Amino acid sequence: MAELTQTELLEEAEKVLKKNDRGKFTVPAGDLYPHQWFWDSCFIACGLRHIDIDRAQIELLSLLRGQWSNGMFPNIIFSENAEHRESELWRSYLSPYSPNKVATSGVTQPPMLAEAVVRVGEKLRSADQKSWYQQMLPHLVKYHEWLYTDRDPHQEGLILLLHPYESGLDNSPPWISELRKHSMPWWIRIIEKLHLDVIVNLFRRDTKHIRPGDRMSTIEALAYWAAILRLRRKAYNSEALLSRSLFAVEDLAFNCMLVRSNKRLQEIAKTIHEELPPWLLERFKKTEESLEELWDEATGQYYSRSFVSHKLIEESSIATLLPLYAGTISEDRVKRLMELIARPEYFGAEWPLPSVPLSDPNYQELKYWQGPTWINMNWMIIDGLRRYGYQKEALELKKRTLDLVKKNGFNEYFSAKDGCPAGAPNFSWTAALIIDLLKTS
Ligand code: GLC
Repeated sequence: MAELTQTELLEEAEKVLKKNDRGKFTVPAGDLYPHQWFWDSCFIACGLRHIDIDRAQIELLSLLRGQWSNGMFPNIIFSENAEHRESELWRSYLSPYSPNKVATSGVTQPPMLAEAVVRVGEKLRSADQKSWYQQMLPHLVKYHEWLYTDRDPHQEGLILLLHPYESGLDNSPPWISELRKHSMPWWIRIIEKLHLDVIVNLFRRDTKHIRPGDRMSTIEALAYWAAILRLRRKAYNSEALLSRSLFAVEDLAFNCMLVRSNKRLQEIAKTIHEELPPWLLERFKKTEESLEELWDEATGQYYSRSFVSHKLIEESSIATLLPLYAGTISEDRVKRLMELIARPEYFGAEWPLPSVPLSDPNYQELKYWQGPTWINMNWMIIDGLRRYGYQKEALELKKRTLDLVKKNGFNEYFSAKDGCPAGAPNFSWTAALIIDLLKTS
């Protein structure tokens, strides 16, 4: 497609959001993702705030209908008029905590809500901002309390995840490696050995919309499906699940976003003169400290960690850069990460930032979270670079991100080597975050 001007880029981005608007929420991409996703809506609200502040608030408010009574925000709220096959897979009604009349998934996604609430709040007049925060705070507190009570049972400071979907970076290398070790049923191994995945592939919905080479492999998809069935059998009860499974990860990306969101939550509370429970504040502090346990001096990178073995999962991914977004790491560590960003065989790609370093054996140019460049990752890292005072680098990354989309459209992800668009076209968070980048200096 022809390269767009800045003004055209903004107009086109707005069109994408309009096209995916379902009234009270925005779907990530019409055909491929017809429901409401948790962190997608948070990114979408960050863009909508510049064009229609009421609609941005509605986007986040509609997430509240899906919140479970124990505080969890599920990663998917199923659309009533979309196919119900997927909601039947999850059967959220099996959990006593799921909402009565709303079908959802049974796992969460990165905690971006407090960030989105503040970004929307920044666009409101003082009185409206206060009532906005008053409305959202109880839901946020309940969510963060759930994260710490349910998903940090040993009070280690790091939240554990029970399904790769919870990380948002669905099939990134650390998850695939854990999956292969601890969560691959025998029958999937047989399918793999006998190459029967070609037949199974006929039943996949996603590859009817998107080139199979852009999506996760059928073996991975099957293993993810089997992992959902296991969660469902235990009615999404984490205690029951943890007593039997070795598949639980203290995910680096998730915990970085949590550190940031914890800060945002404190800002919200302070603005409206509310106190957060002291025990929760203690746990927030612990998360910041524990994040440093994920650093590996020998390779100079951060990693996710297995909750069970307590060993770092030494598989590189873009998550190693997200402590920049968390914003609590030392200048020294920031310098080390800046070196990784600049190295051409690492993250210094033609169209940064690849979701797996270019020289890594797991790197695959167009395969989902195993190599392509994603706009939400760039957006977070640009934000982190700015806060650490790397203005020049932040501006450069912003420019490359805008150019990438100007040249190639609003896809879900792109080749980091030549910018080739991949995944779903007209992807909402790509559009929303481009609007945000254009509208913020
Ligand atoms: C994919 C992404 C996930 C996103 C969802 C909807 O599953 O990996 O992060 O939330 O699509 O866009």
